Amino acid sequence: MAALRQTPLRLLASSSVRRAATPQAIRITTRGLASVTTMPPTDKDPTPKKKEPVLKKFQIYRWSPDEPAKKPHMQEYTLDLNETGPMVLDALIRIKNEQDPTLTFRRSCREGICGSCAMNIEGTNTLACLCRINRDASQTTRIYPLPHMYIVRDLVPDLTNFYKQYKSIKPYLQRKEPTADGKEIRQSIQERKKLDGLYECILCACCSTSCPSYWWNQEEYLGPAVLMQAYRWLADSRDQMTGQRKDMLDNSMSLYRCHTIMNCARTCPKGLNPGKAIAEIKKMMVQSS
Ligand code: SF4
Ligand code: SF4
Ligand code: FES
Repeated sequence: MAALRQTPLRLLASSSVRRAATPQAIRITTRGLASVTTMPPTDKDPTPKKKEPVLKKFQIYRWSPDEPAKKPHMQEYTLDLNETGPMVLDALIRIKNEQDPTLTFRRSCREGICGSCAMNIEGTNTLACLCRINRDASQTTRIYPLPHMYIVRDLVPDLTNFYKQYKSIKPYLQRKEPTADGKEIRQSIQERKKLDGLYECILCACCSTSCPSYWWNQEEYLGPAVLMQAYRWLADSRDQMTGQRKDMLDNSMSLYRCHTIMNCARTCPKGLNPGKAIAEIKKMMVQSS
């Protein structure tokens, strides 16, 4: 699971365990944690180590609302991979910190938890913080925003409609009455297990923006991410609004635009399967509440 990705040495070197890092420790820039410098000379080895640079080109989609007459274009940047962290987000942070402060993208956790760095890297929707840089310097890495979305600036998509749709499914526990003993609502192990593979979604929108049905009907079709969360509450034994939740999906557009193409499951950076969750909703729709 992404949250359990091994803590890289560069992160250890920046934390309280810095003293435990090797003498050849990597120096970390305080702003981005994205740069790596060559090791300083030591008493044992007085020669400073300087590796041959590995110069890698990145082409990045650029568009600014401040220059509305200027069409979107790809801008090229070159980085020495020996001085860059391993992930695409490291490269973006280095470019922003050291070459072009106008480059705009979202990021927060850099550990695959917040979902904010979702973008299209070399043709695949994924999280920049979990995507390793292809170290083949002969190939240019191309980075675009999530496809078929309005763009706020550069790599930042407008997620207003996505969050409006998420809100519409009422993503919270709804009860008609409190429990008899007034205590918490308990679940059996089996009931709780039904939520596995659903609750881990970080709402990054990689799946929805890879879905052809969502590209063409995103005003009305809820898309895989939101439908998987709709199922997460339908499957929750503690929720008492199953009928209303199903009624809300019972129309030709909200749910039934899914044609089981399964791009969503292929692209999910958390390894989840929204297509399967949608199939489960369809099964529930033919059962009585
Ligand atoms: S199902 Fe996967 S790809 Fe879709 S929003 Fe959730 S984490 Fe992102
Ligand atoms: S399975 Fe459904 S939701 Fe997933 S990509 Fe295909 S059409 Fe879209
Ligand atoms: S920065 Fe949070 S998921 Fe990438």
